[in-house]
Amino acid sequence: MTLLNKIKDEEYTSKQIRVDNILYGGDYNPDQWDDDTIAEDMRLFKLANINLVTLPVFSWAKLEPDEGEYDFKWLDRIMDTIHENGIYVNLATPTVAQPPWLSARYPEVLPVDRAGRKRTHGMRVFFCVNSLKYRERAAAIAEQMAKRYKGHPALVLWHVANEYGTRCYCPVCEAQFRLWLRKRYKNIEELNRCWHTSFWGRTVYSFEEIFLPTELNDDYRFNPVIALDYERFFTDSTIDCFLNEANVLRKHTPGIPISTNMSGFIKKLDQFKFTQHMDYVGWDNYPWPTDLPHFVAFKHDLMRGLKDGKSYLLAEQSPNQQNWQPYNKLKKPGEVRLLSYQALARGADSSLFFQLRQSVGGQEKWHGAVIAHAGHENTRIFKECAQIGKELDKLGGTFLRARTPAKVGMFFDWDNWYAVELSSGPSKDLNYLKFVTDFYKPFHDANIAVDVLNVYSDNLSDCDVLVAPMLYMLKPDVAVRISDFVKKGGVLVTTTMTGMVNENDQSVDGEYPGRLKDVLGIWVEETDALFPEERNTMISAGEAGYAFTKEYDCSFLCDVIHLRGAKTLARFGRDFYEGYPCVTVNEYGKGKAFYVGTLPDDGFLGELVQLILTEKQINPPYKAGKGVEVTERINEKGRTVFVINNNAHEASVDLGGDNLTDLLNDNQATGSITIDPRDIRVFFSAAQPH
Ligand code: GLA
Ligand code: ZN
Repeated sequence: MTLLNKIKDEEYTSKQIRVDNILYGGDYNPDQWDDDTIAEDMRLFKLANINLVTLPVFSWAKLEPDEGEYDFKWLDRIMDTIHENGIYVNLATPTVAQPPWLSARYPEVLPVDRAGRKRTHGMRVFFCVNSLKYRERAAAIAEQMAKRYKGHPALVLWHVANEYGTRCYCPVCEAQFRLWLRKRYKNIEELNRCWHTSFWGRTVYSFEEIFLPTELNDDYRFNPVIALDYERFFTDSTIDCFLNEANVLRKHTPGIPISTNMSGFIKKLDQFKFTQHMDYVGWDNYPWPTDLPHFVAFKHDLMRGLKDGKSYLLAEQSPNQQNWQPYNKLKKPGEVRLLSYQALARGADSSLFFQLRQSVGGQEKWHGAVIAHAGHENTRIFKECAQIGKELDKLGGTFLRARTPAKVGMFFDWDNWYAVELSSGPSKDLNYLKFVTDFYKPFHDANIAVDVLNVYSDNLSDCDVLVAPMLYMLKPDVAVRISDFVKKGGVLVTTTMTGMVNENDQSVDGEYPGRLKDVLGIWVEETDALFPEERNTMISAGEAGYAFTKEYDCSFLCDVIHLRGAKTLARFGRDFYEGYPCVTVNEYGKGKAFYVGTLPDDGFLGELVQLILTEKQINPPYKAGKGVEVTERINEKGRTVFVINNNAHEASVDLGGDNLTDLLNDNQATGSITIDPRDIRVFFSAAQPH
């Protein structure tokens, strides 16, 4: 399906937010403010061109002072006030923080942590997702809200709870886990087989003999397959907890799309699974000051990939500092604008903040806000936010729902993530996200769009290149899908720690990388773990027409590789495997399969990726200087090109012979364009790309 057809298809298959602009605004907690402050906030919101507020995320205790007794009057008033001011509402069910009375009356709603401690009331996201009492009361307040606000003109989107992810190990969860296992394995013999319980004498004769992996039994770190299944179970339990409310909302407000904000600590839940139950993917972007642009870009691309390229919501970011990092750097002048555009450039249809007004008390009183404690518009951050708001208003709906054309696909898989990091050996430094983003970086730095794909994606055939870093777990059929992709002419790039186990975390395929041996034309005998400071070298072998300009370093892991038809691109320069291949390529069917049996440094990966891109004639939208991100989004209106200069110095982009409209500066642009330090450009062309 073409990208434009996919957008059309969305109109039939999923609900749309009925706002024709990029959504701009964020979390607002009016229950913390008096009427005068709220009135002043409306003035300030309009000044900043804010068009959406998310509320009342944390107001359950205020809305339901006692079981079944509701007080919505203050919320009615605020909904009306917001509407009168021309602003829309992303209405949150307040179920992330249950009222203290609920925990006191029904302690079963409180979670048990991995250490086996029954928690008392506190924090937030501090409930058991499997608690029936929690679910009953959450569905009840969701229903009250849905019935009450279903016709409200401000309501355009539902936001269920907030950042799900707190694991629970209570007796209810244990019983549910056993049921979940029964469903998955059908009978105990099959479970014994899939868990390979003959190891360490763990044979079980009934599901009742299975215990949650906790610190009480240390299975959370010494029994990888049970720990993996617990992660799968936890995602499924969270989905049920989410649907418990979402189904109620869907019943009463069938036309209003539903989302929730997923934590930026994205490992918490299998988001490919979770987001299938939402109309919009939403996530919270809180980069660490040390995060490089490619790392944040990858997460955006991943969010875009979760629903097959559909635009998503940037549900939260801080307009300025956080409070929860060890050192909370201020965002530099222009930084929040760069981050906002980075999201929009990669597929977001919103730019939302936590928080619109800075709270005066509590844990997050020092967290950045659009309206700081100073309380007025004369702050650096307010002015920056107002500038973004003005620009987004001007851009209107130009690139709304627009999709990103990509020729490179990259696999990402949560089961694989859990399994890799539960693995005991070969190195304690196994970090799937880091490894994947190390391989993503050269594509990002060359401004080559990457679609992040789930391993069962239907879109493999749209890709020319498929990157599968550290695909340790080959789930059923995945090896066949990969091999077919290459056979038909695709280029595969895969790496060390690939094809090691099946979906049950068992190494059953003999020589590594298991079922990918043939397509790769190699087998891997063993893998050496390097100490953190240790390096090996990579020496160009010059075979198969690929040559590298110099010797590079590699680190982390070194595979001992034997060739079975593949050619050698580079060899290790040291250790007993000196001279053995570290990077190979194999011709298979009409395609090629590259294997990288180590973690090369940036320089090597940059060269390798460039060789592949040149061969496949995959080019960036436009050539640009280092540190400049160039992306494009396409919808029925045309093609929007985003240029983001992340540098603290001027940089340029070369538009060649194209004549594009510079949307923010109201002029036409062609040829080489200079971009100021930390500045952005948004170009547009009504012509569809060929
Ligand atoms: C999360 C939460 C918000 C707020 C921010 C602070 O994303 O969803 O409620 O706590 O972090 O950074
Ligand atoms: Zn529980």
